[in-house]
Amino acid sequence: MPLYQGRPVSLFGTGIYMPEHVLTNHDLEKMVDTSDAWIKERTGISERRIAARDELTSDLALKASIEALRDASIPPEAIDMVLVATNTPDSIFPGVAPKVQGMLDASRAGACDIQSGCTSSVYALAMAASGIASGIWDNVLVIGAEVLSRLVNWKDRNTCVLFGDGAGAAVLGASRDGKNRVIASSLRSDGTKHNLITFLGGLVQYPATHDTIDAGLHHIQMKGNEVFKFANRTLPSFLEDFCRDVDCPVDKIDWWVFHQANWRIIEGVLKRMDVPLEKTIVNLDKYGNTSSASVFVALHEGLQSGKIKRGDLVLTVSFGSGMTYGAILFEV
Ligand code: ACO
Repeated sequence: MPLYQGRPVSLFGTGIYMPEHVLTNHDLEKMVDTSDAWIKERTGISERRIAARDELTSDLALKASIEALRDASIPPEAIDMVLVATNTPDSIFPGVAPKVQGMLDASRAGACDIQSGCTSSVYALAMAASGIASGIWDNVLVIGAEVLSRLVNWKDRNTCVLFGDGAGAAVLGASRDGKNRVIASSLRSDGTKHNLITFLGGLVQYPATHDTIDAGLHHIQMKGNEVFKFANRTLPSFLEDFCRDVDCPVDKIDWWVFHQANWRIIEGVLKRMDVPLEKTIVNLDKYGNTSSASVFVALHEGLQSGKIKRGDLVLTVSFGSGMTYGAILFEV
């Protein structure tokens, strides 16, 4: 059963940090053979943020965390665990999470990174909720942070128009009144499709050599059209089954917070499920695909704008490299 048992878990606060520099579709027209019209029509993206040369994923994560802790009115020393969802850590080790834990002086907390494509966000939220529900943690800082711009091949129009940098964070904790709780989650994977989105260079399979650089293995490679089809085919039935298993009719969900990969994917999935398009938060037009950060950022902006209100039922959904996918349902 995907329903949470044990202690009720609440979302106490959220925060984001988006780098200042804006890269527009028109800027990209000067870099690769593309057009503003093509990018908007095929993806819905108009612009994205790019981290400054001296900004690291841990810097973005720290700034989003400070805002989330302030929003939650929870001091760093009350955090038991720092989980960072990322596919673009500063380095393989140390992880981003221990660096953030150290910079925050969250002296009682453990820290680890979670890396499972764009779905890392939902995986991290579900793991945080599980640890709190079981009683091993009281408060968990969960962060999604990415500097994808360093892994993108800026000469490859198939990928460079899609991605952006950014970070979002959420503080989850044991509910104070038993209300506003995380209800259920489901984490899935189809590893037979692990070759659809890859970054292969510099590690065990392809240690860094001049050849791996020449072959482009130090960049994101993606079979975009197959990823598109995978998402459109897999998500509707997965989400319908999930809603049925947790006894929450699709039309009861107030807000659908999707991974912001492509507007056509969000639109296609919602239409197949007969969900009105107004029930989703969209910000990919201004940020592009920020991978593990995207649902944190969309959730934060939905709450800050007043669209998502206390007591609303929110279903957060993601999919990504692996191919992994997952969803988490909560009452905010
Ligand atoms: N500008 C202009 N033309 C382009 C561009 C571009 N930036 N990119 C590709 N094209 C061309 C292609 O070369 C192709 O031309 P051809 O017909 O002459 O061969 C044509 O446009 C159509 O290409 P498709 O790949 O079929 O276009 P599609 O409609 O599928 O859109 C896209 C491509 C936007 C990448 C889409 O497939 C998509 O969004 N896929 C999902 C990607 C995704 O969601 N990834 C998320 C996970 S990422 C992670 O986990 C880290």
